Amino acid sequence: MSLSVKHLLGIKELQPGDIQTIFRTADNFKQVLQRQIKKVPTLRDTTIANIFFENSTRTRISFELAEKRLSADVVNFSASGSSVSKGETLIDTVHNILAMKVDMIVMRHSASGAPWFLSNHTDASIINAGDGINEHPTQALLDAFSIRERLGELKGKRIAIIGDIMHSRVALSNIYCLGKLGAEVMVAGPPTLIPKHIEKMGVKVEYDVKKALKWCEVANVLRIQLERQHKPLFSTLREYSLYYGINKQMLDDLQKEVLIMHPGPINRGVELNSDVADSKQSIILNQVENGVAIRMAVIYLLSGKRELE
Ligand code: CP
Repeated sequence: MSLSVKHLLGIKELQPGDIQTIFRTADNFKQVLQRQIKKVPTLRDTTIANIFFENSTRTRISFELAEKRLSADVVNFSASGSSVSKGETLIDTVHNILAMKVDMIVMRHSASGAPWFLSNHTDASIINAGDGINEHPTQALLDAFSIRERLGELKGKRIAIIGDIMHSRVALSNIYCLGKLGAEVMVAGPPTLIPKHIEKMGVKVEYDVKKALKWCEVANVLRIQLERQHKPLFSTLREYSLYYGINKQMLDDLQKEVLIMHPGPINRGVELNSDVADSKQSIILNQVENGVAIRMAVIYLLSGKRELE
């Protein structure tokens, strides 16, 4: 039970067998998380720093909980309130944290490629918690794990990723992950939010959301990332919602059950109406729950510890 990589920088670098190893390990940790005492002593001699240069709710809390459930010592760093505002570089920041005998770094950064850059300048294992518009590997792992939990193995399953594909690290990591697991993937949304030539990654492209819903068994719906759009790519959020937002009536018209996923944060009334986000078809909070077990698995496997208790 080990991974072919030293760091988790992206899904692109993982072998399909790595993903299956992470899933099997997460199955074990999910059982631990159902117990009254939701903690194992496995990483009691390990210190992990969560360094976040960009905002987060789910990923940050989920990593911290995962680390604490493994009995690791945890330190949290936010760029706001740090010496970054005084001009300290990323490498200096991380070398100073590591000098305090930290073993592993979990990093979120707005610059695509930042975790790769860091991995060339340190011996500690790096886990990418989201870098710019590039990858968000643990999100894709928890998404695929959540689909597997509901529908069984991913091979041949039809998954539509709907919304702002262009600016989404979740979309890219999902495309890699689902492809490696043998799922069929479609991306859907306005043409201005779908990268040109994306079909070369082996995905189908659809601009009509109703047709995408008709095709898929699972719809993973993404937020419009206005903070990453430097010029308008559609008229208004109201118009986006009218043409690409998903409401309960659209799902009822399908006469089949489509699982609804969303990585969060949801912009209710834009990409998803509340009657969908809070419906029985939605597994959004199951994704969040599974995130802790997936992150425990990734941290455990990268730590090199070999006794799963
Ligand atoms: N899914 C996700 O990355 O959410 P946060 O930005 O809240 O971490």
